[in-house]
Amino acid sequence: MVETNPAWIEENLGIKERRIASAEQCTSDLAAAAALNALEAGGYQPMDIDLIIVATATPDRLAPSTACIVQDKIGAYNAVAFDLAAVCSGFLYGLSVASQFISTGVYHHVLVIGADTFSRITNWKRRDAVFFGDGAGAAILTSCPYDHGFLAFRLYSDGRGKFNFTIPAGGSEYPASAHTIAEGMHYFSMNGKAVYNTGTQVLPKAILQVLADANLSINDIDLMLPHQPSIRLLKKTTEIIGLPWQKVQTNMDKYANTSGGTIPILLDEVHQKGMLEHGKNILFAAVGSGWTYGAAIIKWHS
Ligand SMILES: CC(C)(COP(=O)(O)OP(=O)(O)OC[C@H]1O[C@@H](n2cnc3c(N)ncnc32)[C@H](O)[C@@H]1OP(=O)(O)O)[C@@H](O)C(=O)NCCC(=O)NCCS
Repeated sequence: MVETNPAWIEENLGIKERRIASAEQCTSDLAAAAALNALEAGGYQPMDIDLIIVATATPDRLAPSTACIVQDKIGAYNAVAFDLAAVCSGFLYGLSVASQFISTGVYHHVLVIGADTFSRITNWKRRDAVFFGDGAGAAILTSCPYDHGFLAFRLYSDGRGKFNFTIPAGGSEYPASAHTIAEGMHYFSMNGKAVYNTGTQVLPKAILQVLADANLSINDIDLMLPHQPSIRLLKKTTEIIGLPWQKVQTNMDKYANTSGGTIPILLDEVHQKGMLEHGKNILFAAVGSGWTYGAAIIKWHS
């Protein structure tokens, strides 16, 4: 569909394959499937969930929230449900929001879902069509002893970078029209260089800050589960923070950048491989449109 080069994609982006949702599937379908898997894996019923957060940049519709649609699809009618818009940092933001509600005792079982179908906002005739795949993942958060769970998290936003990744049309600024369609304004546009330059500055900043907050050194980190923008960006980040690459888990080779879906899909894969042992320090980090970025350290409790 577009002039590109598989060797370039693999070397620079780290992508070999990706998944695209079928024409009948929308973001809430992927999200609901991930949620049901998480409920089953955790031994919970849908009615046990009291809060649902869906992190997505590709909601089914502008209204209602995708979270309310997911609530209905999985039958979690005891839950409050809302969407969270932080694009590629969405799941990390969602984890942090969930942890606040749990630590204040407001909610007890929080379902955080990261779900995106970027295939719906991709212009297949442009070479940036190679970056993204569709996917969703989910986690259920609950309380644990005080010396486990979140040791630290830091979230940041910097709206000065707001349009380096954007989906211009379909909102109140450029409502959908024949003009916006003709101009392709319903597709995402991205400044790849700006993402790279920003990501390699802000991810190390956020990571070094959470390490300091938790009074840990980089050597105390057992696993890093980052958002997966491009392999070059991740390698540069780990070089700066001094984390051996073997500690970094990736899945962009199979799914590409699934935006909100990346970290929870990776978390599930690592969990299924038995790598999330009790007491391990897991580092999460993400950067996305906004700019939004941040990092968190969780001491795993199982
Ligand atoms: C995408 C990225 C690898 C491109 O690197 P770069 O050096 O900035 O790339 P440029 O756009 O200047 O392109 C340099 C060369 O790469 C090649 N290239 C770029 N895009 C390509 C594509 N889709 N397919 C094949 N080759 C490509 C071309 O040879 C290009 O040279 P040309 O412009 O003369 O044709 C880098 O910017 C990056 O990693 N950005 C982060 C993007 C990201 O993470 N996005 C996720 C959003 S959260």
